[in-house]
This record gives sequence, structure tokens and C-alpha cells, in this order.
Amino acid sequence: MFTDDVIRRVRDSVDIQDLISGYVSLKRTGKNWQGLCPFHNEKTPSFSVNPDKQIFHCFGCGAGGDVFKFLELQEGLNFPEAVRKLAERSGITLPESRPQASNKKYEDERKALLAVMADAAAYFRAELEGPAGSAARAYLAKRGVRESIIKDFGLGWSRPEWDGALRHLKQKGHAPAFLEKAGIIVKRSEGEGHYDRFRGRIIFPIRDINGSVIAFGGRVMDDALPKYLNSPETPLYSKSNVLYCMDMAKEAARKNDHFIIVEGYLDAIACHQYGVRNATATLGTALTDGHLRLMRRFTKNVKLIFDPDPAGVKAALRSFDLLAGSGMNVKVVLLPGGDDPDTFLGTKGLDAFIACLKDAVPLMDFVLAQVVKEGAGAPIDEKVSRAGEMLGFISRLPSGIERDHYLKKTAEALDVDEAVLRQELAERRTAHAGPRERTAEGAAPAHKGTGQRPRAEEMLIHLMLKDEETARRLKGRIGPEDFTDPLFRRAAERIFAVLAEGAGFDLRRLAVEGDEELNRLLSYYAVLDADYHDPEKTCDDCIDRIRQQGSSKKMRSILAAIQDAESRGDRERVAELQKQLVETKRSGAQ
Ligand code: UTP
Ligand code: MN
Repeated sequence: MFTDDVIRRVRDSVDIQDLISGYVSLKRTGKNWQGLCPFHNEKTPSFSVNPDKQIFHCFGCGAGGDVFKFLELQEGLNFPEAVRKLAERSGITLPESRPQASNKKYEDERKALLAVMADAAAYFRAELEGPAGSAARAYLAKRGVRESIIKDFGLGWSRPEWDGALRHLKQKGHAPAFLEKAGIIVKRSEGEGHYDRFRGRIIFPIRDINGSVIAFGGRVMDDALPKYLNSPETPLYSKSNVLYCMDMAKEAARKNDHFIIVEGYLDAIACHQYGVRNATATLGTALTDGHLRLMRRFTKNVKLIFDPDPAGVKAALRSFDLLAGSGMNVKVVLLPGGDDPDTFLGTKGLDAFIACLKDAVPLMDFVLAQVVKEGAGAPIDEKVSRAGEMLGFISRLPSGIERDHYLKKTAEALDVDEAVLRQELAERRTAHAGPRERTAEGAAPAHKGTGQRPRAEEMLIHLMLKDEETARRLKGRIGPEDFTDPLFRRAAERIFAVLAEGAGFDLRRLAVEGDEELNRLLSYYAVLDADYHDPEKTCDDCIDRIRQQGSSKKMRSILAAIQDAESRGDRERVAELQKQLVETKRSGAQ
């Protein structure tokens, strides 16, 4: 969209400390400024801003990046939106960017696909209204879906033929290749041609946040499987970034200052029909970071209604880390009696539903209830395993006060000694110590949550990210292949690759889209404020150590091979290996 030059100009026009101070109260500590992280709940500051490098990193939740990234996370913007917002703040007029050729192609394709989807949606709608749709209309009526809701949600019907949609859309001038790309038709596995993806199904159009149809879900009317068939991932649609009926829920969510998330199409539809208009649904997937980001634009509060079956509960527990570290305030609602929102509203009505919503419990209370159950009377081995599971969750809570609170509650619920649990929790937390707990003077600590990592490799990564000059000097002396730790190796690869591009490295260049683990590591070491009193000497020492370790590993494998060759009586091979051994020894001693 924007040229590097424009992006640099906008970035240089704001000071990160200045920008973030508008959201977070910052205090100076050493080279950095610190405050309470806006992206997760915490009571002691672990959010750091480095004015020299103009980047931030939270040592608690791992979020990090530059001014743009901050706005993306804080305001729920995408990158171009963040650039525009900052440009506006600084009074920079952005050049009316003529889209580059590839962008233009991409935009054109997107437009064409949206046109396909709009035509397809209109076709399915007309089918539902026409004579072919009478059984489907009866089904929806039986399910209690009102006419007005059918209209608002644009529901449709796909007849049980192989090429109803294909023929209609071809007639409208859409090429089969395009219909396939849009996920509406499927290529035959044998022979030529395509057939309709959705046949004999009620159609639920999936729209983006602005109301454009980007995908479909289709439900059978009997017990056939799969019950729901959904569009595949397409250039328009990625299910981990879309919530069903977000376009209709967003304003109500802003007004009521929370979203309600349900699991099914018809659950969301029922909510809206009963006037609960801030409801959205995930689409056959667990909640993702993308979903949270989508919601964060409108409110930080969300209530999750999980299906009360064990799968629903498991899904909730699986999302724990994501939710606990999201900075969103997450509550959980379990409907009594095995109902989902659709059947609950249908049988018990709106008032009962609202009463359940009022009883929403904080995520961690839900976890406690699910894990501990009636634990006090359980046999001792059960108690041990439940306590262990709980400690796993508690140790991942960002706030000490919260940890303390749930530790007490767990001890109480399981009827075990609180001091013993506290001791176990302390041991766990040192085992996975975060950086602040382990920072030794002058040396970089292990990366959070990654356990023990090779120290020499870690220090080199830190030194290179602290100072580009150091990285430049090391290039050629050491390469990614010298790093044994896979994450450090990835980091080294990025550092050297960006250096090779010659454009100077900042976090945005270094970051790899989709590799959050790596991105966290990069911003972590870039912000980490730990000094080495002789960086050059430290580099030399680290390289020596890595080489030694590398060569001693190699030596061990040569020794093993010698033994093996000796046992086979292969003298020639033994001699050859001994020569290798001497060479390896020599290179390791350098
Ligand atoms: P459920 O099986 O709970 O169905 O799936 P439901 O939403 O209550 O639907 P009804 O009431 O039986 O009509 C919950 C959600 O999981 C996804 C759909 O998004 C569905 O709404 N799902 C389910 C699929 O994508 N495929 C399936 O085969 C089943
Ligand atoms: Mn249902």
C-alpha cells in the first residue's frame, strides 16, 4: 500500500513514548519506560517502552512491536489503518497511493469474488422464496425462525441438484474457475467439470464486518452428515478471522459494552430474534486471536456461552492462555439443562436467558469449577491430579493477586493445605521463570516460557538485536546453522536475511507474519535492558563456546563411528575417522 519511505516518514513523526503515554502511564526504569500492560490484566508493570529503538514489549504477555503495532493492538486496526491514523495525528498528508500492480491485481480479484458471492447469495435467497424452497421454509418455521429474521440474515436454500448454482452463476457471466476460487463449486475428482458445493441445504450467508457476503454455511434438514457444510478458506474468507453476524452485532456490542459469543449459527440467530443483538458466533472453530482482535475495536468485554457438553468445556479450557493473556475481560456462561442458546430461548424465554447472562462468571472461576468439581471428597490421587491441573492454570495468570486468590480457592475446594499448594506453585513458577525473575546482572535471561536455552546463543541474539552494528560484525563469523536452538536459529536467520537486504533492521522488517513465537522473541530481546560491559569480548566468548559445543558434539559422533568401524575391523575407515577427529579438535580449539 504505502512505500517504505512513507512508512518511515510517518513512523519518525511520532515518538513512541509520547504516543503510548496517551494510553498508559509510564515511569522511567533504566533505559526503558515501564507501565501496566494495556493488552493483558496485570498489577505489576511488565510493559516496557524503549525510546532509543522506538519499540515496546510486554514481558508478561509477549506483545511487542513499533508504534504501528501498538495502535493495531490498542485500537484493533490493521497496518494500513494504523499508518493512516498516525499520519493524521502528525498532520502528514499521505500520497494518494496508486496501488502497485500486484495490489491492484489482488484488489481486482477481491472485487470479482465479492461480486460472485453477492450473486450467489441472491440466488440462494430467491430459491428459498420460490417454489423450490417450500420445504426449507417449513423447516425454518419449525425451528422458530421468523420471516423478518430470514430477511435480515439473508438465509437461502440450495436445491439438491448438482449444478443449480453453477448453471445460474455461469449464466450471470462468472467463470467456473472463479466460482471454484470462491468456494461455491468443487472440481470433480474424476473427469472434467465442477459441481455445486451446497446441495439440499439451508444457506447461512457469512458476512464480513461491513456486511459483504464472503462465505456460506449450509445445514441439512435431516440427520445427514455433515450437519453443517461451510465454505473452504478462500481469498475472502478465513474462519479464524470472522465471526458470524459481526456486522449486525457490532453496534449493539459497543452500546452494551460487551459481546456475547455463542457456538452455532442458529444460536446467534435466536439471540438476535429475541433482541439480544450483541451476539456473534464462532464458525466451527475455537476462539482465536483474530476473533479477539475483531471484537477489541468495539469493547473489551465478552461473555462466552459454551455448549454444556464436554467438548464445549474442553474448548473453553483450550482457549485459556489466549483468553487470559488477551487483555479482554472474559466471562463464561453455562446454560443449565443441556440447552444451547437456541433451544434455551425457545423453551425458557428471554428473561430466563438474561438471568443466565447476569450469572456469567469470570473465566478463571469457570476453570476452577470445571477442574475441581466435587474435589473435596475425591480420593487422594484424584485430588493430586486436579490440584496439578489447577496449578497449571494458576501459574499462567498474569497477576499475582489473582494467583493468590485462586490458590486459596483451590485449596479450599479440594480441602488441601494452602501452604503446600503455594510451595508447589512457587516451584512451577521458577521452573518456567519469566525474564524478570531470572535476570542475572549483565546477562540476558532465558526467553520467557521457553525453558532452558543455550546461553551463548541467547546472548548473541540479544547482542545482535540490541545493536545492528554488532550483528553486522558477526555476519560471516557465525551463521544460523551454528545455532542449535530452533527458535534462536530462526531469529538468526531473520537477522542475517534482513541485514543482507541492506535496509537496516527494525522490528517490522524482522517480524515474520504468523510466527508469533519468533516475533515475541524478537521484540523481547530488542527491548531487554541489560548491558554487557564488554560486548565485543562477550561476542567472541559466545562464538568460541558455540564452536566448542558444536565440535564436541561432532567429536562424540566421530568417536562413536570409530568404535563402530573398529568393531567391524575396518582399519581404513578408522584411520580416516581419526584424521577427522584431529581436525575437529583443532578447529574447536581455535
Ligand atoms: P452444533 O452441532 O452444536 O449445531 O454445532 P447447532 O448450531 O446447535 O445447530 P442446530 O441447532 O442443530 O441446527 C455448532 C456449530 O458448529 C459448526 C457450525 O458453525 C454450528 O453452528 N458445525 C457443526 C460445523 O461447522 N459443521 C458441523 O458438521 C457441525
Ligand atoms: Mn442448536
